[in-house]
Amino acid sequence: MNPTYGLQVDRLSFAWSADRPVLQNCSFGVPQGQLWMLLGSNGSGKSTLLKLIMGLLSPQTGTLELLRPTGFVFQNPDHQLVMPTVGADVAFGLVEENLSPSQVRQRVRESLEAVNLSHLERRPIYALSGGQKQRIAIAGAIARHCQLLLLDEPTALLDPDSQLDLVRQVRALVQRQNLTALWVTHRLAELDYCDGAFLLQGGHMVDQGDPQRLKAQILTTQRS
Ligand SMILES: Nc1ncnc2c1ncn2[C@@H]1O[C@H](COP(=O)(O)OP(=O)(O)O)[C@@H](O)[C@H]1O
Ligand SMILES: [Mg+2]
Repeated sequence: MNPTYGLQVDRLSFAWSADRPVLQNCSFGVPQGQLWMLLGSNGSGKSTLLKLIMGLLSPQTGTLELLRPTGFVFQNPDHQLVMPTVGADVAFGLVEENLSPSQVRQRVRESLEAVNLSHLERRPIYALSGGQKQRIAIAGAIARHCQLLLLDEPTALLDPDSQLDLVRQVRALVQRQNLTALWVTHRLAELDYCDGAFLLQGGHMVDQGDPQRLKAQILTTQRS
């Protein structure tokens, strides 16, 4: 992989069955240290693409190169947070890493600091807002030292202010820790806080590059 990329996808194709192609010859890359957004209408294959990147599905053709470990953040954080408190949940993701208790405490501390939620370490998960829960899910990935973050509509359940807060914070975190992030969204306002965007349509990556250009183009198409 080109060392300046955190994710490189080359001519990737995937079909659930021969007569139902979802992705056809998709090629794109996300530079390290950047947050890129993936746009496309419902059913265009965005979640399928993330599952291919995560290795939950295998492509029929094409190659994928990515930095590991990789962390995932889903639409609904309640599907992802499993322990009763914030600190316990972040620590839970580290059980397979053979760390000492003090190393675990250190990782939990660092990762909560990274998402600006150190003060919530003892808070029960049920007492968090949606945006805080998403940041805890991200802290879990940071604690595992994930280098690539894949986020599938992480703001879908958030109110407009929390949406933009989350995207701003994730972008700052990506820059500060030189991570790579691919963020699926429907919300054009979020495009103001990313480094680039991809547009998936009819199984093809039809456009990619400057987010403001893509935003203007999508708005023009919606109006016509
Ligand atoms: N497990 C599955 N089996 C068969 N078809 C699926 C499955 N999951 C998704 N699909 C189909 O694949 C296409 C892309 O879905 P998806 O990747 O979820 O789209 P998006 O995330 O862009 O809304 C849709 O036509 C959807 O119905
Ligand atoms: Mg989806």
